[in-house]
Amino acid sequence: MKVIAIANQKGGCGKTVTAVNLAGALAGMDKKVLFLDIDPQAHATSAFGIKLAEPLDSSFAIFNAFLNQESLDICSLMRNKYNNLIVIGSHISLSTIEQKMAGIKNAVLALSIALTSNDFIDFDYVIIDTPPNLGFLTLNAMHAARNLIVPLDISFFSLNGVSQIQNILEISNNMGFKKPAVNFLITLFDKRSNFAKNFLEKVKDSLGDKLFNTVIRSNIKLREAAALGKVIFEHMPSANGAKDYAALVEEMEPRLKGKPINLKQPVPVDPAKDRSHILFKIYAPEAKFVHLAGSFNNWKLNESFLMEKDRNGLWIKKMPLSEGTYYYKFVVDGEWRHDPENKLIENDRVGGINSILSVKNN
Ligand SMILES: Nc1ncnc2c1ncn2[C@@H]1O[C@H](COP(=O)(O)OP(=O)(O)OP(=O)(O)O)[C@@H](O)[C@H]1O
Ligand SMILES: [Mg+2]
Repeated sequence: MKVIAIANQKGGCGKTVTAVNLAGALAGMDKKVLFLDIDPQAHATSAFGIKLAEPLDSSFAIFNAFLNQESLDICSLMRNKYNNLIVIGSHISLSTIEQKMAGIKNAVLALSIALTSNDFIDFDYVIIDTPPNLGFLTLNAMHAARNLIVPLDISFFSLNGVSQIQNILEISNNMGFKKPAVNFLITLFDKRSNFAKNFLEKVKDSLGDKLFNTVIRSNIKLREAAALGKVIFEHMPSANGAKDYAALVEEMEPRLKGKPINLKQPVPVDPAKDRSHILFKIYAPEAKFVHLAGSFNNWKLNESFLMEKDRNGLWIKKMPLSEGTYYYKFVVDGEWRHDPENKLIENDRVGGINSILSVKNN
């Protein structure tokens, strides 16, 4: 899974248009893409034609779960936009999260920790759209991402953002965080403007091979597509905007060169049908409390994963799980045990054993 964040503190430089259409191009090339909108303005969410009424249906829930040390069903946040493109949208309430998480240890790692969940394991790419500042949310994206794309429109302020980003990455690196690879992308380019041409030459000189050769031209069809809640490859695949974002993908991922972009509409899924109800059970008549913990609840012990004891001392818990592979243990009066009835196991990182469960839905 490759995590790519799009960031620049300057507003209106093409972050959202880049994030949305990059995700669209990759999905149209048969890659499985998760789009994560962590900008409280939720522009990308609406550019996909999605509106979320409830904060807890949006990426807000990811930070909220970290804050409250709660488990989270990440799949419940996912919306199918195209066949290969799943969106976790944003909500204005995300603007309050930085203040709420002030002083919480490792809060800047909330997103990168959430992305280790097995619910993301099937995705080839995660594309993150960020707000126009280098605050808490953007820092979370920078720590979660392996690659950072910084769009630059033709303005002095845009270039100003370059040094700010580089400074922040240096500071983070000195604090022991991994630095993502940074590449810059010229957007909103108007080749008829002499100023734009001079700007491009100047940027090439100062950024060298960190600058993508691909330049995203100004193209009204990109604006129209966003207003219609579509990616450019659905709205007008022949537009310059579509050609430029396809070229960007080819430059980023040469193996995809020449692959036609074919976006398919999602197959409607009934969330109730899409889940299997799995019965977990362990015999422990002597126990006072047994919890179920696993990759499906970020290994957290809380009330909702407390199992129920029957008269014979068998502890049970029924859980709806979507298709995928899960790792779990039972916690019997505080002691972590693997499932004695399940032969599928792996060694965990601390010398214990995890049980493995593979769920297939029909
Ligand atoms: N290549 C382009 N051609 C024409 N219009 C564009 C292009 N890229 C972006 N736009 C338009 O410019 C405006 C700003 O773009 P966008 O929303 O992507 O910027 P942003 O950096 O995400 O802004 P913010 O910082 O507010 O999140 C939007 O109206 C968008 O439709
Ligand atoms: Mg934006």
